[in-house]
Amino acid sequence: IKVQDYRPQAFTDFTKEENVQAYRAALQKVRAELLGKHYPLVIDGERVDTAEKLTSLNPCDTNEAVGTTAKATIEDAERALQGAWKAFDSWKKWDMDARARILLKASAILKRRRLEACALMSIEVGKNYAEADVEVAEAIDFLEYYARSAMKYSGFGSSETTWFEGEENGLMSIPLGVGVSISPWNFPCAIYLGMLAAPIVAGNCVIAKPAEDAGLIAGFVSDIMYEAGLPAGVLQFLPGVGKEIGEYLTNHAKTRFITFTGSRAVGLHINEVAAKVQPGQKWIKRVIMELGGKDAMIVDETADLEVAVTAALQGAFGFNGQKCSAMSRLIVVDEVYDAVVGQLVERAKGLKVGTGEDNANVTAVVNEMSFNKIKGYLERAPQEGQVLLGGGAPGTHDGKPGYFIDATIVGDVKRESPLAQEEIFGPVISVLRARDWQDALDIANSTEYGLTGGVCSNSRERLEQARAEFEVGNLYFNRKITGAIVGVQPFGGYNMSGTDSKAGGPDYLANFMQLKTVTERW
Ligand code: NAD
Ligand code: ALA
Repeated sequence: IKVQDYRPQAFTDFTKEENVQAYRAALQKVRAELLGKHYPLVIDGERVDTAEKLTSLNPCDTNEAVGTTAKATIEDAERALQGAWKAFDSWKKWDMDARARILLKASAILKRRRLEACALMSIEVGKNYAEADVEVAEAIDFLEYYARSAMKYSGFGSSETTWFEGEENGLMSIPLGVGVSISPWNFPCAIYLGMLAAPIVAGNCVIAKPAEDAGLIAGFVSDIMYEAGLPAGVLQFLPGVGKEIGEYLTNHAKTRFITFTGSRAVGLHINEVAAKVQPGQKWIKRVIMELGGKDAMIVDETADLEVAVTAALQGAFGFNGQKCSAMSRLIVVDEVYDAVVGQLVERAKGLKVGTGEDNANVTAVVNEMSFNKIKGYLERAPQEGQVLLGGGAPGTHDGKPGYFIDATIVGDVKRESPLAQEEIFGPVISVLRARDWQDALDIANSTEYGLTGGVCSNSRERLEQARAEFEVGNLYFNRKITGAIVGVQPFGGYNMSGTDSKAGGPDYLANFMQLKTVTERW
């Protein structure tokens, strides 16, 4: 199969008026054609509806239902699992190239429908134009990158073994079987698609369980995979409630692997459930986990402060801080603390609040549960630090009800407090004052997470120390700590942030394969 070398998608430049106009036109098209749409389950290639439905609300105007999906029952989950195993019998025999072509075709379709996917997310989860654009670009990149990664595993003995006289030896990579892909709402296009495309191209069949708050975009991209030619049963689209069907499938003896991206609490629970061997189970379930973070960026006295403040604003408030990678702790060395915090607060005052559709900087958080959780942190904030900006949860904007939370900066946060240790997943920066560089690095490493981190400094020695000692899966110097690009910055954390499986990295597909060594003596 002939392909160009992989190159990530370019992002759209929204300083150009024509791109803004095109985005607005896409919003209108989506409002006319997709709003109110219903996505049934897809099991064995058939659309299956359910008595109960899941409704997606517009978080920026909760009076508006964006659309609905079916809500799978345990019986549906069982059928999906059995059907996927049937489909596996033939899918596993497909040529790698042929499987890869389906991803490339899906990528071509998504490129054509890029603006629609973006606009749908602006309405369904409140992403502004740039945030939605970057996400759809990432989704396309996953398809392109994993299609190329698959080629590596094509043919007998594609992995390297040492020559041994008189024998042929080879290491074969073979698919695992049927797995469940359970995804979050915060990257409902890119993570949802990447987490199903990788196991599928490797020859597995997948039951995809999207997040309850973002079923429409998941239905939209699943349809693109079907249009691209996926045979029946290879991708079972199964929206439903995590605690019901997610739990059932995680427990099931016939589930071979679980790929999960979501919160630490749910991830650890799944890990525990999956570890228990069920009657009739033939394997140790493989569990791939991408969990939360309490990501920190350090600013020392040698840093370019303007660069640091820009990085902090982008890293903390992009998509309202609802990213596992978001900068939720800013650790500033005492000598420059007042200067950094002063500039940060001033610049954050300029952030525009509004809807994703209006391309605001700060929009509404995703749902009521998130809203209440963040509000709780804000109510306790005055006991844990000094609220320098925001601190409120208006729950409305422009006369419409929505899950609006103020962009908030809390200074001199106590090191052991919840604001400094727990993932808030909202537009809240906890600023911590460090005595010096070493103290700052110690604070950065003082949580149980290890996802992203950053250092703004012009000291080579310190950057090298951080390279070795900052305990995170993705470390950034002198820039924001979000926005990893597929193939460029393989993404994923360790410690309580996950199994470091590195989405968009050269070995990601290996998570979904097992190895068999075959030796023939001549
Ligand atoms: P969540 O853990 O609440 O839900 C994630 C998924 O798990 C959903 O599809 C949900 O339905 C399902 N689920 C819930 N209970 C389940 C159960 N008992 N069994 C099986 N499935 C179950 O997370 P969320 O709120 O959707 O997403 C936000 C979280 O995701 C944050 O913690 C964020 O840091 C994390 N995240 C991590 C990464 C990463 O790459 N490390 C990326 C994005 C988001
Ligand atoms: N991959 C996303 C980022 O890097 C989560 O921000």
